[in-house]
Amino acid sequence: MAKDLSFTCTACNAATSKWSGRCDGCGAWNTIEEVKPLSSGPKSKKAMGGGRGKHIALTDLATEEKEPPRTLSGVGELDRTLGGGLVKASALLVGGDPGIGKSTLLLQAAARFARNGLKVLYISGEESASQVQMRARRLGLTESPVKLASETNLRDILTTLEAEKPDFVIIDSIQTMWLDTVEAAPGSVSQVRSAAHELTTFAKSNGIAVVMVGHVTKEGAIAGPRVVEHMVDTVLYFEGERGHQFRILRAVKNRFGPADEIGVFEMTGKGLAEVRNPSALFLSERGNPAPGSVVFAGIEGSRPMLCEFQALVAPSPHSQPRRTVVGWDGSRLAMILAVLESRAGVPFTGLDVYLNVAGGLRVTEPAADLAVAAALVSAREDAALPKESVVFGEISLSGALRPAPQTENRLKEASKLGFTSAITPVRAKRGGDAGVALREMQDLHAFIEQIFGAR
Ligand code: TYD
Ligand code: MG
Repeated sequence: MAKDLSFTCTACNAATSKWSGRCDGCGAWNTIEEVKPLSSGPKSKKAMGGGRGKHIALTDLATEEKEPPRTLSGVGELDRTLGGGLVKASALLVGGDPGIGKSTLLLQAAARFARNGLKVLYISGEESASQVQMRARRLGLTESPVKLASETNLRDILTTLEAEKPDFVIIDSIQTMWLDTVEAAPGSVSQVRSAAHELTTFAKSNGIAVVMVGHVTKEGAIAGPRVVEHMVDTVLYFEGERGHQFRILRAVKNRFGPADEIGVFEMTGKGLAEVRNPSALFLSERGNPAPGSVVFAGIEGSRPMLCEFQALVAPSPHSQPRRTVVGWDGSRLAMILAVLESRAGVPFTGLDVYLNVAGGLRVTEPAADLAVAAALVSAREDAALPKESVVFGEISLSGALRPAPQTENRLKEASKLGFTSAITPVRAKRGGDAGVALREMQDLHAFIEQIFGAR
């Protein structure tokens, strides 16, 4: 057993087990002081024990920190989602369903960053080097100076990183990595957490940007990226519907930029292509105005984006009518249905309700409330909305309509895509209308009366 050293000399830091007037180490007088243990409870090897820590240098809020250095990939949609490029000495997590295109996206990003002068390492724990090379050939990236390895042992990987000193490392995926110090199967929570912790610490102390890929499962992410989210600086989710070619890269957390920023990509035969004008893409499949179809002028991150809400309302054969939502929040739909029923007198009892956002987009803004209500009533009444009009605004439980933020940006985007009128809540502050004719409504009742006529 180690002796309990609970006295130290303030002059030379020598530790002793008992107090004395003179330090045996440096010979100074009256410098021995008792050190109280930092942690209460039993002293184990793991507890803080009796040793004192060093004083940390404190600073004030006014001290100016330099902006962290960033590197651009040249892919606008990716750089935007990252908050303006890749930050040195940072840890990122890219989550998403298996097969959605994470490896494809990151291989393409790796090639771009390598071409822009970064030293890039791509470590795959899921595919062999030849599989990754095959994909690179298909994507036309074989000329890019990206270094490649297929490995899952984190100790070997860290040793390699130390020797290679790369700027940017991709770990695909964190679920396949394992530490020989942790007694658990790869993919288990403790392995994933420890591996992510090691990689994050390594990234910070060596000035490397590390991207970890994490699979999410629909059932709620067992040992998935959720346990890693709080450790990293940036969390990006790669989303999309399997049947659609659109993919959305969404920043849900970003210590170096705005969260909620999105990048839009299209999966093609030659990998992911960036979509510079998403509104046009999401509306491209729209035909003539049909009942139940409403164009919503939304804001995603820092930019406006138009998309189409589609509703279908039909008599229900079930005692408990169906409420099915794709691309929007189910409980929000229940709320809108309740408000329509009790504040505007439009009942949905005995009716099945289906709501869908076209193109596989997922909308989270409350400003979509009015567009949803419009789609529901339009489907129920079998009456299309006025041609070339967009809808946006929040609905409160009282049935009142509340203006949405960034109204002008929404109107500008609508005008750019050829829309001539907008149905919106009344604005307190007047602003530009971008040449779009505004039909402003005070509450849900007025909205239904003016758009769908007296019922
Ligand atoms: P992948 O990047 O392997 O997904 P993840 O790493 O998220 O599991 O992408 C797999 C899908 O992408 C696969 O179904 C095929 C499709 N894909 C294309 O459509 N075009 C391409 O050029 C590539 C490389 C993949
Ligand atoms: Mg993959």
